[in-house]
Amino acid sequence: MAKPVGAVTRGTTGHNRLRRCDRWIAAVHGPLLRSAVRPLVVDLGYGASHTTTLELFTRLRRVAPDVEVVGIEIDPARVAVAKPYEQEGLSFRLGGFELPVPRPPTLVRAFNVLRQYGEDDAWRYWDLLAKRLAPGGVLVEGTSSENGRRAIWAGLSPDGPETITFSARFDAFERPSDLADRLPKTLIHRNVPGERIHAFLSDFDRAWAVNAPYGAHGRRQRWLAAVDTLSRSWPVPGRPPLGGPARWRLGELTLPWVAVDPR
Ligand SMILES: C[S@@+](CC[C@H](N)C(=O)[O-])C[C@H]1O[C@@H](n2cnc3c(N)ncnc32)[C@H](O)[C@@H]1O
Repeated sequence: MAKPVGAVTRGTTGHNRLRRCDRWIAAVHGPLLRSAVRPLVVDLGYGASHTTTLELFTRLRRVAPDVEVVGIEIDPARVAVAKPYEQEGLSFRLGGFELPVPRPPTLVRAFNVLRQYGEDDAWRYWDLLAKRLAPGGVLVEGTSSENGRRAIWAGLSPDGPETITFSARFDAFERPSDLADRLPKTLIHRNVPGERIHAFLSDFDRAWAVNAPYGAHGRRQRWLAAVDTLSRSWPVPGRPPLGGPARWRLGELTLPWVAVDPR
């Protein structure tokens, strides 16, 4: 077997760390997984234990009973640790960004993996992974806090980045820009004046501030009001699957990638 593409990095993971993203994948991409023939999902870089891959598998099986999930890790010791947890539809194997799977995946999730690489590598591996997708497939690449209460992820098609999603528990931030430490590697160094991502987070903070009175009804109401304010100046999708109150009330906001694209 050729050497896996990439490098072993820290293996930090934890129960329910990726719950917010799993929920989004199930809601937004459940129809894609249901309509695919033999849908294959890859969890790339699952870390020191099988936990988040098993959780993804369990959650996706609820919305797409035929889905098959493969956890891929570049560290052989972590593959050995996960192997005993294999079951029908769930397996673990050694590999890297080349994705050693038998057919193109319908969905690849890579969480807390690319942040440990350089910015140029992150763009390059986005491209490499997206090109490995089945037609119509999705790459979900993101970063979360250790407990998963703050997360940001990008959604990519084989043609490149399409969406960016901000997600947080309402008690996990003071202002929306607190999520900036979870920006993808392709954006984190762009959060400076003059860049779109900086303008967006500044506007989100302003919208959060002007809607402070809604806080009397709870932070969820304040978030909903802030998203409404933001929608007047940013192309926030207003309908499912990506937008609408059912998603926003979870502490989520998805934007088209073009709104923040630094290129
Ligand atoms: C911080 S852990 C993330 C674990 C899990 N995804 C999570 O979010 O909780 C990152 C893992 O990605 C693995 N990794 C890094 N580069 C990789 C690559 N190119 N292919 C596969 N795994 C990789 C590392 O070995 C490490 O175990």
